[in-house]
Amino acid sequence: MGIFTLSPRYEKANNAVAEKYDVPCEMGGVLGWMDYPTKVLQVLEPTAENWQGKRVLDLGCGCTDYMLQEHYLESQHDGYAKNLTETYEHIWVEMKRLFEPWMSRLLHELEVDVMGVDLADNSGEEFVSVQLDVLEKPSLVQSVGEGFSVVIMNNFFPLRETRDKAIASGGMAPSVAKRIHSEELYVQFSDWLRAELASVLAESGVLFADQRLWRKTNGALQRESLRTEAE
Ligand SMILES: C[S@@+](CC[C@H](N)C(=O)[O-])C[C@H]1O[C@@H](n2cnc3c(N)ncnc32)[C@H](O)[C@@H]1O
Repeated sequence: MGIFTLSPRYEKANNAVAEKYDVPCEMGGVLGWMDYPTKVLQVLEPTAENWQGKRVLDLGCGCTDYMLQEHYLESQHDGYAKNLTETYEHIWVEMKRLFEPWMSRLLHELEVDVMGVDLADNSGEEFVSVQLDVLEKPSLVQSVGEGFSVVIMNNFFPLRETRDKAIASGGMAPSVAKRIHSEELYVQFSDWLRAELASVLAESGVLFADQRLWRKTNGALQRESLRTEAE
């Protein structure tokens, strides 16, 4: 499958999700099809092997509201949707399914205590979900609670130095890019979000955001280098 060696536990969960959500088996399940859940598991190991008693928050977890997702593909730079569709056409014609909440589904299948937060309604999903417009700056702690060991944030709001760099990284959700339309707003929201994420994380908890790892140390988020190929 071209992915890291799966422990039997991951393999079982991967197959279960593939079957439950009808991912064609030639895709290798979620972990064979998409690189980001694989990276999350890789990066968070050995934490990932020992999820017991740990709470995980998946912010901007994805959804089956395809209007939102199509908007995502269309709003990327020219040719993005076309390239993606052409690249994957032979194995996955329904590209719209790319941003379903795969990570939360997989973690739920692994019996991890995961909470998926999204603008869209995920109440039909098996994992615990919270529907929330994060850009409205509600208090995250009040909305989701605190004491999380892990926060995952992927393709939602890349924490970069500037808005331009965040957009260039390709991971900014389109509706977010539209609403955070200036450098000033980016800096404002970025600072707010970092502080909120630090509040929901337990001390020593980790944030894995768009290929970057952070750890809550002395109450604040500190960057950590990655030990894997995602570096
Ligand atoms: C590109 S998808 C990423 C899904 C998943 N994390 C992944 O990497 O595949 C972005 C998600 O962010 C959600 N989103 C967009 N704006 C949001 C907001 N203001 N508050 C919460 N979620 C939002 C969208 O509904 C969508 O499901």
